[in-house]
Amino acid sequence: MSILEKHRILEKNATLLLVCGLGVVTIGGIVEIAPLFYLENTIEEVEGMRPYSPLELQGREVYIREGCYVCHSQMIRPMRDEVERYGHYSLAAESMFDHPFQWGSKRTGPDLARVGGVYSDEWHVRHLTDPQSVVPESVMPKYGFLSDRLLHPDHIQDLMETHALVGVPYTEEMIESASADFTVQVDPMGDWDGLVERYPGAQVRNFDGRPGISEMDALIAYLQMLGTLVDFSTFTPDASR
Ligand code: HEC
Repeated sequence: MSILEKHRILEKNATLLLVCGLGVVTIGGIVEIAPLFYLENTIEEVEGMRPYSPLELQGREVYIREGCYVCHSQMIRPMRDEVERYGHYSLAAESMFDHPFQWGSKRTGPDLARVGGVYSDEWHVRHLTDPQSVVPESVMPKYGFLSDRLLHPDHIQDLMETHALVGVPYTEEMIESASADFTVQVDPMGDWDGLVERYPGAQVRNFDGRPGISEMDALIAYLQMLGTLVDFSTFTPDASR
């Protein structure tokens, strides 16, 4: 019997085809997935990554709540056009503290994985308040109301504990000083040494230029840190992985 004739038996017998099909998919799945459980370094370690500061974490909550991920990805692919436009391709380690991750699946607007430091805070306030005032053809909605929604640090500890529960390495000290760190990040005159020690590279300033801590402050604090933690001049990709 030729191989085609043998295959004909499979094709004519629906149940047998289903069982064999299932078998093939299972083997394929195991071959692809199983090694990941044994590779300790599926995520390559990079210097500079740290958990989000309380204010950044809160800004990230606003980002998720407002559905920014519907139009914006945070995942630069290793292709020339993307790397030239957005910067170094995204590393797995850069989203290891993200629960849930914000890679996104659609780019109505540009990728935001490295938007930190690209624009001034004033630009972000103007752009978020009225995107068309800076980019006339923009289809991005207006988010001016974020400036009027003031935040209180009451629940930030709970939020951090929740993230700690799923594996983000927030220490007890970080959780204890959450409220203070939250408040001091928008107060350059305050005592923010502890904040910067706990969260190296945390940017301290009044992000929206208005009194009080608003959702606008938190969101801009988050946007301005995106992609700024890893120093790529010291990073050498390990091709063996
Ligand atoms: C309906 C789709 C849509 C949504 C939702 C949306 N944006 Fe945008 N965004 C765009 C488009 C389109 C642009 C490009 C034009 C412009 O700059 O406004 C853009 C641009 C941007 C830029 C400038 C990026 C760059 O590299 O120039 C930032 C920052 C930004 N958006 C942040 C946000 C944030 C934060 C949210 C959620 C609060 C959000 N966007 C929600 C569509 C969207």
